[in-house]
Formats: sequence, C-alpha cells, structure tokens
Amino acid sequence: MSFADFVLAQLPPPPARVLEVGCGDEGGVAYALDAAGYDVLAIDPQAPEGPLFRRKTLEELDDPGPFDAVVAGRVLHHVQPLGAGLDKLARLAPLLVVDEFAPERLNGATQDWYEAQHRALVASGREPEGPARLDHWRAAHSDIAPSGTVLAELRARYDELAFERRPYLYRWLGGPATEQLEETLIGVGAIDAVGLRWVGRSTIKLWPPGSPG
Ligand SMILES: C[S@@+](CC[C@H](N)C(=O)[O-])C[C@H]1O[C@@H](n2cnc3c(N)ncnc32)[C@H](O)[C@@H]1O
Repeated sequence: MSFADFVLAQLPPPPARVLEVGCGDEGGVAYALDAAGYDVLAIDPQAPEGPLFRRKTLEELDDPGPFDAVVAGRVLHHVQPLGAGLDKLARLAPLLVVDEFAPERLNGATQDWYEAQHRALVASGREPEGPARLDHWRAAHSDIAPSGTVLAELRARYDELAFERRPYLYRWLGGPATEQLEETLIGVGAIDAVGLRWVGRSTIKLWPPGSPG
C-alpha cells in the first residue's frame, strides 16, 4: 500500500486541515490529499512551488494551527532535536501519521540482499534510486536517528494507534525487486523489515486552547 493510501485510510473524512512535514521536492502526499478534498499545507525547504507548499522547516513553521492531522513521510529521522520537533507537532494536531525506516537494520543478510539486487539492476541497465554500497551510505548519514529513538520519542507524546514494520528497500531499488518480493523475504525471516508505519494520537494539550482533540 502506498503511503498516500495509508494516510487516506487514517485521516478523518474531509473537510479537515492536514499539515505535511518534509514533503520533499516532489510534494510528498500533498497532491493526493488535496485531490481527496483536504485542506493541505505541506512544508519542506525543498518543497515545490504552488499554493499547497511553503519552503520552510518544521522549526521555522509559524502557522499556529490547529490542524486535524500531521503527516510525516521519511522526515522524522532527520529532525534535530527530534523531541522539540515532536513537542511542536503534538501541539499542532491530535493525529500524527508517520512513514519511517530503520537505518540500524541495514546490515547482515538484509544488506547483502539489497546490494546484490542493486548490482543485478545496474548490470541490466537500470539506475536504482538507492545507494550501491550501504557501508558508504551509513558513513555519510551517521546523524540519522535509529528507529528505536524515533519510536521512543513518538511514544512519549502520543498514544500508539497503529505500528507495523514493513518493506522499504523496494523503494530504493525499483525495477523487478518489488514490494511483494521484499515482503516475502521478510515473512520467511531471510531479511529484516526496514520500513515502518506508525499512527498516534497526541497526549499533549493542543495549542491554541480549545482546539479539537
Ligand atoms: C527523504 S526526504 C522525504 C521526502 C518525502 N516525504 C518522501 O517520502 O518522498 C526527507 C525530506 O525531509 C526534509 N527535511 C529534513 N529536515 C526537515 C525539517 N526539520 N523540517 C522540514 N523538512 C525537513 C528534507 O528537506 C527532505 O526533503
């Protein structure tokens, strides 16, 4: 299931106001949410041009809210300090929908399988989006938070409504290394699940006072 479909399944029905944090330069799920009838604000320093977007970090965001939900796709592991960022999000909206990954699981058999798939794709003329060598990637991304840290910070501010570990590397590989293949290998214990999806309800009083939640 795409992250956009997962988000749509978690949100209250429109009309509702949704903040997307770290939408990236392709707009994340903002276009899909807008098309589904939500009032969307999507932020990222690299956000596209357009009425849905603002080129701002979470730390720079000055919209007082409230929002009905926040969506954070593959961004929380970049936010520093994460605790302060989540304090802000937990006050802006009652619901948080997260797409994340577990960099600490990119080793052993999981790393071997990924790198072999990458080599096979390159040999067949494809250009996978992800890195060829995970040791190099790890050395260049030593500041990324492990999933245990992200989950602990989330659980300190939200009641957990949903949590699943799931395939992720198919998004880096593309081509014939499909989500289903990765899911099968995870299911038989051959590789680790690197992706995760999580939904929580804020336990922190929303700001401004009197907001929904
Ligand atoms: C891996 S990309 C994810 C983009 C998109 N959500 C996706 O899943 O394809 C991470 C994005 O987070 C953004 N980012 C990192 N730190 C941020 C922060 N503190 N506030 C807002 N965006 C941030 C980066 O600019 C980058 O575009």
